[in-house]
Amino acid sequence: MHLSGKVAIVTGGAAGIGGAISRVFVQRGAKVVAVDLSAAAGKTLTAEMGASVAFLEGDVTDPKVAARAVAMAVERFGHLDTVVNNAHASQQAPFSALTEAQWELSMNTGLVATRQFMLAAYPELKKHGGSIINFGSGAALEGQPTQAAYAAAKEAIRGLSRVVANEWAKDNIRVNVVCPIALTAGVAKWKESFPDMYNASLARIPLGRFGDPERDVAPVVAFLASDDSRFMTGQTLLADGGSSKLR
Ligand SMILES: NC(=O)c1ccc[n+]([C@@H]2O[C@H](COP(=O)([O-])OP(=O)(O)OC[C@H]3O[C@@H](n4cnc5c(N)ncnc54)[C@H](O)[C@@H]3O)[C@@H](O)[C@H]2O)c1
Repeated sequence: MHLSGKVAIVTGGAAGIGGAISRVFVQRGAKVVAVDLSAAAGKTLTAEMGASVAFLEGDVTDPKVAARAVAMAVERFGHLDTVVNNAHASQQAPFSALTEAQWELSMNTGLVATRQFMLAAYPELKKHGGSIINFGSGAALEGQPTQAAYAAAKEAIRGLSRVVANEWAKDNIRVNVVCPIALTAGVAKWKESFPDMYNASLARIPLGRFGDPERDVAPVVAFLASDDSRFMTGQTLLADGGSSKLR
């Protein structure tokens, strides 16, 4: 499916799955505002993708960053069609040992930022309709130990997405969720810290491998951003090699 003429904001859009989404969106004809904490990754991305990507260095937890991203999309590319709420930072610990800071990190970068970007984008999206793609996780669907803060934020994002899918359907704004599994640099680091958990996760993937961010996950997000999915809203799609099954 092509994304010609589409303008998207991708949070955490300079590296990992977000970086893959920014690249695949541009390859398919979209213009992208990539928002990321990492200036270095943003520089690499813009050097590679040229004027089709505008990079905004910023923290997604800051509501001014969401407003700036929307303004940048309109100033640089004329309008806004899609918001991909991909950024989410978290740290693992058993529930009883989770610190306030760890709880807040996950809630703020995941749930709070997703809410802020959706609200900031709404005035632009409702002018002509659009697509919001939020991120969930199999760790939340399955209740993976040590992931309480992350799972709570991820399932809150899915609940929020279903409600807003119903509320904004009248504006032809679709809201869907993707739960990926992909071998990013972050997952490679997690693999080093928790090798047993990594091997257990790998063993639960029927297709037998972690996904490739660009080939296995970004195309699913591109589908949800494209008009090919124009009759889909409020759904969760799993790009996870079959690890979880929603019924
Ligand atoms: N990788 C997986 O297997 C997997 C599995 C389930 C869910 N997910 C979800 O997919 C999404 C992407 O995951 P990933 O593994 O690519 O993440 P990642 O840790 O590799 O980070 C992606 C990008 O987000 C940026 N970022 C982090 N915090 C930020 C902040 N506060 N403001 C702005 N940018 C910030 C980072 O700089 C990085 O460029 C997340 O929502 C994650 O929870 C990933």
